[in-house]
Amino acid sequence: MRVIIRKTYEEMSKEAALLIKDRMMKKKDIVLGLATGSTPLGLYKELIRMHKEEGLSFKNVKTFNLDEYYGLEPTHPQSYRYFMDTNLFNHIDIEKSNTYVPDGKAEDVEKYCQWYEEQIKKAGGIDLQVLGIGRDGHIGFNEPGSSFYSRTRLVALDEQTIKDNSRFFKSIDEVPRFAITMGVGTILEAKEIILLANGKNKAKPVAQFIEGPITSLVPATALQLHPKVTVFLDEEAASELKRIDYYKFTENSSKQLKKEIWL
Ligand code: PGA
Repeated sequence: MRVIIRKTYEEMSKEAALLIKDRMMKKKDIVLGLATGSTPLGLYKELIRMHKEEGLSFKNVKTFNLDEYYGLEPTHPQSYRYFMDTNLFNHIDIEKSNTYVPDGKAEDVEKYCQWYEEQIKKAGGIDLQVLGIGRDGHIGFNEPGSSFYSRTRLVALDEQTIKDNSRFFKSIDEVPRFAITMGVGTILEAKEIILLANGKNKAKPVAQFIEGPITSLVPATALQLHPKVTVFLDEEAASELKRIDYYKFTENSSKQLKKEIWL
């Protein structure tokens, strides 16, 4: 794992966008795995700026989103399809037909989830997966206890997640109780992963998943099993890490060598 710490949310988001840009320059038809939530908003804003001001093109890019609320129409303002369209896709030159977000209204969910996995395989797998982390250590909607071998499936949301997400709905009763999410196993198959986290309320799950023991009770700890993960943090989210000086030191060493070094 590589841990990159920046003073502010803006700096952290820009640093992550630079990595994505670098990978896009190396592979024009890159397959990106994307996340929703407040965390990646700064990253998407920066990618849009790079598209508009630096000519970064998404013409041949395919994207697969991690998850979607079960039961919400794609046009619902709180659906993740709507989030992706309004916060990224509508502002870049991506073909909408190349953007996949799980269908929250899928009738035969099991069959649909299998189809979703097949589309990822058909695209050649995910080259770069973007992740956020929940306060309970979830990735995608894989709540504590999720199998590390889990695949795209219907899941029941944790009470904490429902509470956390109620800020986006008129009342807590409107928050969907279920979601479709890529599994931990699906996520681990991405060739490369970046995880972004900012703010004080992420400090604990961040320290747990980077430095704690691997356990399905903190699903993000599964990332310790992946060889190519870069974590982008602001100082608040990094504040409970024990080896913070080491991460800063290795980043400087890797800059001197002009090579990315993963632990
Ligand atoms: P957030 O959500 O970016 O809104 O904090 C992250 C997550 O729950 O995965």
